[in-house]
Amino acid sequence: MEIKPTQHYQPAADLLRDRVILVTGAGDGIGRAAACSYAAHGATVVLLGRTIPKLERVYDEIEAAGYPQAAIYPINLEGAAAKDYEDLAATLRKEFGRLDGLLHNAATLGTLTPLQSYDLELWYKVMQANLNAPFMLTQACLELLRESSDARVVFVADHKSRAYWGAYGVSKAGLDSLMRILADETEANTRIRVNSIDPGPVRTNLRNRAYPAEENDALRLPDDVMAPFLYLMGPDSASITGRSLTLDEFQ
Ligand SMILES: NC(=O)c1ccc[n+]([C@@H]2O[C@H](COP(=O)([O-])OP(=O)(O)OC[C@H]3O[C@@H](n4cnc5c(N)ncnc54)[C@H](OP(=O)(O)O)[C@@H]3O)[C@@H](O)[C@H]2O)c1
Repeated sequence: MEIKPTQHYQPAADLLRDRVILVTGAGDGIGRAAACSYAAHGATVVLLGRTIPKLERVYDEIEAAGYPQAAIYPINLEGAAAKDYEDLAATLRKEFGRLDGLLHNAATLGTLTPLQSYDLELWYKVMQANLNAPFMLTQACLELLRESSDARVVFVADHKSRAYWGAYGVSKAGLDSLMRILADETEANTRIRVNSIDPGPVRTNLRNRAYPAEENDALRLPDDVMAPFLYLMGPDSASITGRSLTLDEFQ
């Protein structure tokens, strides 16, 4: 039987040493776990999110653990415009001089509703936060990523092209295309690698909102799904780009 390189993946303790990694939606759920896990493996993490007290808690957690000092960058992805992302990229350049990793994790659920009655204003908000924002953020950061010796862009995927998933499902499908197009455009001439991970069901606020009646004790916690997030953000994934991974490949 073939053993995949990702199976039972064991990241090196210093996997992300000296890397500067931006995590969106870093204040809660999977983003919080990823930010802490990246910091635990040596990265300097930039915590991007919209709720400052949540970001501060993650910052404190990282500091208390003695990991490299993090930075906080508050942005509401629903309202941010191209100029806000340009300012962010300029700040990263000034503070760190480079960007080695970008985790597009933040997402908003919107509502589970048939398309026929989906509220148009909510549709725009969800598409803005989940799809347009990652595009603008990527565009603003590409030059910085190009300058890294081994950069990664990782998208958090969710394959939900089925009834009632509305703007969330469409935004995630768009994100999948964005990932593949970016991977194709960067594969030959850059050291940027671009992939996505679908973590499957994880016990978070977003999951609770989507499945309020679910008995969720059996679901994985964010800390339990970190293997692919580390693999795709570090040097071990240098040879793959344009791939959409699932947790199954790590078991
Ligand atoms: N949980 C699952 O079962 C599951 C399965 C597949 C994929 N995913 C994906 O995993 C990723 C993380 O979700 P999660 O499950 O960890 O949910 P979560 O706990 O609700 O986390 C979502 C994060 O995104 C942030 N966010 C939402 N809207 C934002 C905005 N407008 N501006 C800035 N930040 C914003 C949230 O900030 P606030 O807390 O401040 O609102 C939060 O930090 C998402 O991309 C989701 O699609 C989750």
